[in-house]
Amino acid sequence: MQSKLKILVTAGPTREPIDPVRYITNYSTGKMGYALAKAAIPKFEEVFLVSGPSNLPAPEYVHFFPVSSAAEMKTAVLNLFSKVDVVIMAAAVADYRVSEIKEHKIKKEGKSDLVLTLVKNPDILSELGKKKEKQFLVGFAAESENLIDNALKKMQAKQLDMIIANNISEEGSGFAYDTNIATILNSDGTQYSLDKMPKEEMAQIIIDYILQRI
Ligand code: PMT
Repeated sequence: MQSKLKILVTAGPTREPIDPVRYITNYSTGKMGYALAKAAIPKFEEVFLVSGPSNLPAPEYVHFFPVSSAAEMKTAVLNLFSKVDVVIMAAAVADYRVSEIKEHKIKKEGKSDLVLTLVKNPDILSELGKKKEKQFLVGFAAESENLIDNALKKMQAKQLDMIIANNISEEGSGFAYDTNIATILNSDGTQYSLDKMPKEEMAQIIIDYILQRI
């Protein structure tokens, strides 16, 4: 049954430019975030999807906002934040960007090494955590060690209501796979483990689980 609620989902990687032909990114494909946005369509009155670069087609029946860098994602998310009741940040936002984007292609001639200075990107979810009024905030944590401890720390630091911890060192879990393995951690200390399953199936479970808790 459809609720009167509105949801914002972020998906995919961000792309941090170095010069006109190069950038820093990560292996996120957008599969998890797009699956969540699609699973939300029948259950929410409106679905907003802010996506970093992805080869996936924009889903029908969602308001689609393509972005590239973390700065663009932040602007799009902050513009939509007051309109929505739930935010799920499945995007893999780059933690760093280069301090100075070169206007022209960096030449390799005469250079055996190239040193790039990186500066920290703003943490979008932390900003939402500070601003939130009615919104239910859900983060994802991609961890290769100390899965639960690290995810719990992120949930507390970013003032989230829920975090979905992926163990990216497991086969079939995390970046680029069609499947995922995750543990949902709630801010009340309870948790719920999800075995390996297609991202579409996991997305439906996560959406229903969120709707039961708000
Ligand atoms: O896209 P797929 O190929 O399907 O892969 C799915 C996924 C592995 C990318 C996804 O399930 C996932 O785990 N996304 C979060 C990856 C990540 O960036 O985790 P993190 O631990 O670095 O960040 C924690 C949370 O803070 C995330 O919700 C992230 O969106 C958010 N964040 C992080 C950095 C930043 N500057 N701003 C943020 O808002």
